[in-house]
Parts: sequence; C-alpha cells; structure tokens
Amino acid sequence: MPKKTFYITTPIYYPSGNPHIGHCYTSVACDSIARYRRMQGYDVMFLTGTDEHGLKIEQKAAEKGITPKEYVDEIVAVFKKLWKYMNVDYDRYIRTTDDYHIETVQKIFKELYDKGYIYKGEYSGKYCTPCESFWTDSQLDENGCCPECHRPVTFAKEEAYFFKMSPFADRIEKLLTETDYLQPKTRAVELVNNFIKPGLEDLCVSRTTFKWGIPVTFDDKHVVYVWIDALSNYISALGFLNETYNDYEKFWPADVHMVAKDIMRFHAIIWPAMLMALEQPLPKHLAVHGWITFAGKNGESQKMSKSLGNVVDPFMLGERYGVDAIRYHILREMALGADSAFSNEIMINRINSDLANGLGNLVSRTVAMADKYFGGTLPTERQAEEIDSDFINTVLNTVKDVETEMDGTRIKGALEAIFKAVDRANKYIDETQPWVLGKDESKKARLASVLYNLLDGIRIISTLLSPFMPETMPKVWEQTGASESDVEYDKLSTFGVLPENVTVHKGAILFPRIDVDKEIEELNAIIEKNMADAKSKLSESEKAESSDNSEKIELAPEITIDDFAKIEIRVAKIISAEKIKKSDKLLRLQLDDGMGGRQVVSGIAQYYTPEELVGKKIQIIANLKPVKLRGVESCGMICAADTPDGVKVVFVDDSIPVGSKVR
Ligand code: ME8
Ligand code: MG
Repeated sequence: MPKKTFYITTPIYYPSGNPHIGHCYTSVACDSIARYRRMQGYDVMFLTGTDEHGLKIEQKAAEKGITPKEYVDEIVAVFKKLWKYMNVDYDRYIRTTDDYHIETVQKIFKELYDKGYIYKGEYSGKYCTPCESFWTDSQLDENGCCPECHRPVTFAKEEAYFFKMSPFADRIEKLLTETDYLQPKTRAVELVNNFIKPGLEDLCVSRTTFKWGIPVTFDDKHVVYVWIDALSNYISALGFLNETYNDYEKFWPADVHMVAKDIMRFHAIIWPAMLMALEQPLPKHLAVHGWITFAGKNGESQKMSKSLGNVVDPFMLGERYGVDAIRYHILREMALGADSAFSNEIMINRINSDLANGLGNLVSRTVAMADKYFGGTLPTERQAEEIDSDFINTVLNTVKDVETEMDGTRIKGALEAIFKAVDRANKYIDETQPWVLGKDESKKARLASVLYNLLDGIRIISTLLSPFMPETMPKVWEQTGASESDVEYDKLSTFGVLPENVTVHKGAILFPRIDVDKEIEELNAIIEKNMADAKSKLSESEKAESSDNSEKIELAPEITIDDFAKIEIRVAKIISAEKIKKSDKLLRLQLDDGMGGRQVVSGIAQYYTPEELVGKKIQIIANLKPVKLRGVESCGMICAADTPDGVKVVFVDDSIPVGSKVR
C-alpha cells in the first residue's frame, strides 16, 4: 500500500531584508510538524521559499546599484543558511524567479483570462508608493493618508487586469464558516464580516508601473501583481502546469498552509477563489498564528520587523543557548491565533524551568542513579508496585494527547502535554525516592523497576519531543540506552520496550542552567548594539519607514491650564467590542466608565480584533459631545496614538479604578 502523504507549506518570504525570529517561528513550526508526520510514517512534502518580485525589491536593488536578481540572491543565501542552522529540513525550496514557477504563473493568468475571471479594466484611486497599495477613500486615515504608514498618498490611474472573485463568495463563506479549513476557526467571523458580507471586491492583479515581475504573456506592458504570483507557488512547486516537477497528483491538496495573521486574508479568500476558478481542489487547512512581538524598552510591544531594526538575531541566540532551546522557546510560547511577545527574560526562564530543571534534570538524575546503583546496566529482577501505574498511564496517554493537538496544528498544546509528562516523571522520582531504595540491599529489585520505568518513560517523552528538538533527543537516547528501533513511533503506545538489562551512558549536561540576571544584562547590551547597527545600515527608504517622528513633530498652538481643564479624561474598561457593519474601520465599544456605562465608536478596527480589547482599561475623553458615526451613537472617544505601525490604543494600568480622572 502506498504511504499516506502530507503536504505542508510556509509562506514564501520576501527577501527584502534578513530573516528574523518571526520568520523562524513559521519555519520551525512547519518543520516540527513535517518531522512529526515523517515519524508517523507519512510521505511528507515540506515546502518553503522566497517571494522575489515587486516594486519594493526593485527599488532596494536600485538603491544599492545592483540588479533585483543580484539583490535577492544575496538574501536568499542568508535565508537558506538560517534554515540549515535552525535544522529546518525542508523538502523543496521555491524561488518565484525560478523558470518553472514563471511558466506556471503565466499559464494560470492566461487560463483565468480565458475563462473570463480575469478582465482588463482601469485602476484609479489613492496609491501609497512605499506600501505598493491602492486604497479606497473610506480606507484612508483621518488625514487622508495611507492607513498603514500614514504617509501622503497620490491619485493614480492605470490600466490593469482584475480578478473577479464575487462568483465564489458563497462557497468561500461556507469554506470559512462550515468547514475546518481555518485554524483557529474563530477568525472566520472577522473575515466574513469585513470582506465577504460587504461584497467581495475584484482584485487588481497586474501592474504597468514597474518591471520586476512576471510578464503577462498576452499583454507584455503588464506584470503579474504580487498575490497571483506568490500564491501560485504552492502548486507550481509540485509541477502544476509545468514539467519540472511531477508531484501535483501525489501531494495536492495541501494538508496545511501555515501563515501569520498579516496574510490570512489572502490565504483565506483570494487563494480559495483562485483555486475555485481553476477548478482545482482546495487545501485542507489554513493555520493562522499571531506575531512574535518585541517587548521594547518601555514595555511597549511592536511587531518584529526587518525595517524597524527591532530584530532579534536568531544566529546569536542559537550560539548562546543552542538551537533546540530557541526552537522550544518560540514554539512553546505561541498559541495559534494569538500574538506572543518575545522577551529575553521569558526565554531564559523558560529554558531554565522546562529544559534545564524539567527535562534535563529528569534525564541526568535517572542516568546518574542507574550508573551509581547498578554500574550502568539494570539487573533483570523486578518488583512492580501500585504506584507505578499512574505514572505509566500518564506517559502513555501523552501520545494520544499530542496526536490530538498536532491534528489541530496546536504545537504549543502538544508541548504542554509532553511537559506535563516530564513533570509527572520528576514527581515519580520524588514519590519512589530511589536514593532511599539504593541504600537497602533488599530493595534492589524495586529500585530496578523504578529506574526502568523512568528510562522507558523518557524513551516515550523524548521520542515525542524529537520533531521539536531534533538535535538534543538523539543525545538523550544515547544516554538512556535507547536504540534506533526503540524510538520508532509505533512503539510509543507500548510500555516496556527497552531491553530489561538496558545500559545507560552518562553524558554531558543537556541544557546548562543560565544565570538569569547576568545573561539578561549581556543580552540587552547586545540587542541595543544590534538595533543601533541595524538602524545605521538602513537604506534611505527604510530609514523613512522606521524613523521615530521626532524631527517632524509640529505642536498645535499653545493652550492654558484652563483650556486643558475643559477636557475630562477618565479611565474606563472595555466590556465588549464588535465591528460595525459596512465599515472596515469602526468598532463599537461598550465601556464601564464608573458612571453607569457608555458606548463609544472608535476607528481602530484595522488594528485590533475585538478579543484583543475586551477586558482592557483605557482612557476616554469623557465630556466630548456625542456624535453618530455610521448611524451609531458615540459618547466620547478613546485615546490612541499614531505610530509607524498604525494606531495603538493607550492602555492603562489595571490597578487604576474605572472612573478615575486623568490630569
Ligand atoms: O508576507 N511573528 O512575506 P513576509 C510571526 N511574501 N511570524 C512572522 C513575523 C512575526 N513578527 N514576521 C514575519 C509575505 N512572520 C509574502 C507571503 S505567501 C504566498 C506570500 C512570518 O516575508 C509569518 O509567517 O512578509 C508571516 O505570515 C510571514 O513571515 C510573512 O513574511
Ligand atoms: Mg509581510
């Protein structure tokens, strides 16, 4: 019987700057899933790659005086080096500049045109050059600027091709709401309300204003605009409409596309629409994770980004703590759907508690006792006790728990389940007190049972961990005397697989304990230096993107304290939040203001999901005259800051009671 197949993809990354720990998350997560499925016996295809076209790349290359291809070649080399370093073991790497991909994209574009789904029209609207985005008037910010970067937009008009998605609206809505395509499914509501309910707009899919892209074969003024080019990678890499590969029949539809929330919409709506138009099967799952954010100096958190210079260098972290510790840390912190703040402190504490104290200690204590009491080789007399079964069952059940979590692409959940078993094993040592048994000659059989159970428990635990920490687990097997065949996946549901007279080998400490204070001081110094270096190396366009606004700030005319006294700022708590229909900017917030409650409408829907707001404390201008926005009454406004990353609500310390006056 042919093996079952499993096809998983990362996004193809823009090689417009070096990769950072955010990119590592998706790649390491997909790598772990791919390894887990290989271990289970699947025939796996794990695809990653780079998305190399577009105006931004063209501009950056021009700034450096090299060709776009030379520019991306350099960065692609860094991506590949990083994946090798992080043990990201992909099966195929696609570059959108590869000939076979270009061939596929051109054929897809032509087919969609021939079928009437792509048509020629004219694009006119507000255009933001740095963001390469057209915006409708209603999407612009309060000042009529780009809603993403808040810089001025220009009016632009160009001949362009459009992809008509409306024929697929109903099928896409069903895909999102009635199937388990989206993981987590809770994100379906915002997609349906924001994009499908208002009517699926046709998507502009070609450009005439830059050259660095795939030419439209039947109209060579035009290049294919990014998303048709990029999304097609998932099938061109299998040989769809090209002869380079021959794996489409075997691997399509994909089992999992994994992306972060910034590109969810393209994968949840546009990609299914393209496949529907091409009459191809749809992928099985789209797993959407949040961002790794960066805890800045003042505790504010920002999305980690190449141009902001807030990047944490994965090579440096790997050198200090080992690649597996970094893999473990990022996988363990990030829940599907939610953001996860990167902080050195959380990372080091996690390494110390879970890896040094938890797993490392379990292995070293067990091996050391087998060595001390039995010279390394366990005798075969045994004495089981009632107390053993709870430990053994916990470990065996972990295998099923991990399976359930991994089927839902919940890596954090899988790791939590495994570390519960680690804790249970350490507790078993405390319960059985082998060091007491070791002192009593008549308890040798009992001691052998305890140590055997620990070693066989470690066999199961470490095998389950091996997809996530592929470098360390073979060392555990070496120390605990597990052979290659002992750690096969099929043997995880059975206890007692190690030979009865198993021999351990004392080895190096797996995860040395880190001195938290000293380490954090050193890391902060390195990171500050890196940020300064990164900033000084930025190109002009990047500097514009990342500069703080200090030079540009112009204050409004001076006021007196009496003027200020007219404004009443009070603390309130967000009780509920929901999108306002027919608006992609507005949220309706119900607040506890300490005065019986009120409703405020706020233009922050593009920056926050309702879940990110509920329960948080904020400041409101409490005596602002009520107005109606889109027919909804708004009593006051909430305080928010304009930042290069968009609008950020000014949250308030939870210890301040609602209703407190701010002055
Ligand atoms: O969007 N936290 O490429 P991209 C977590 N080329 N994940 C992060 C992250 C962060 N701070 N920053 C980036 C593109 N990522 C397009 C994709 S796909 C057909 C085309 C990860 O280089 C995350 O997976 O901007 C996110 O979706 C991806 O990098 C975006 O990478
Ligand atoms: Mg991006």
